[in-house]
Amino acid sequence: MMDLSDPATSEHARDVAELVPRVGRLVGIADEELEALELAARFHDIGKVAVPDELLMKPGPLDDDERRVMACHVEWGAELLRHLPGCEPIARFVRHHHERYDGCGYPDGLRGEEIPLASRVIAACDAYGAMMSDRPYRPALDPDQATLELVQGSGTQFDPRAVAAVLEAVDAAEHQSAQG
Ligand SMILES: [Fe+2]
Repeated sequence: MMDLSDPATSEHARDVAELVPRVGRLVGIADEELEALELAARFHDIGKVAVPDELLMKPGPLDDDERRVMACHVEWGAELLRHLPGCEPIARFVRHHHERYDGCGYPDGLRGEEIPLASRVIAACDAYGAMMSDRPYRPALDPDQATLELVQGSGTQFDPRAVAAVLEAVDAAEHQSAQG
């Protein structure tokens, strides 16, 4: 469904889903919770299937009304997943993936440790992945710029532990690919 409705979002979700378990392990998420984390990462934006295409594809910034509609994707996604047997934890992680560490995020304005750790991991990985890919309104940033933006949001938008873990995971992946 996600592939058909919005291939770019779907591809981005796959990139994020690859980074997430490595970051999850680094911040100490238990092995038995990693599967739920991975699934939440894969489906974190599934609520966007209900967001009109003209918003998803809009080549400029969204206005306030459009932003409000877009923000609903966290609740729509969580609501959809909540009704699947065994997916309640995944629904919770999806609901909170746009909370901010300083409490200024949505939908519930949770702050710091109130936000599920899995959601904090997804938020940092999602932002990094988004910066590293082309968007309708701007081209991809280079890795150094993306890293810098993530660090600048550490402690305000993002959990500092999650940011540190993303940098470590990305660094390790680069190291690995450099070694062939
Ligand atoms: Fe999202």
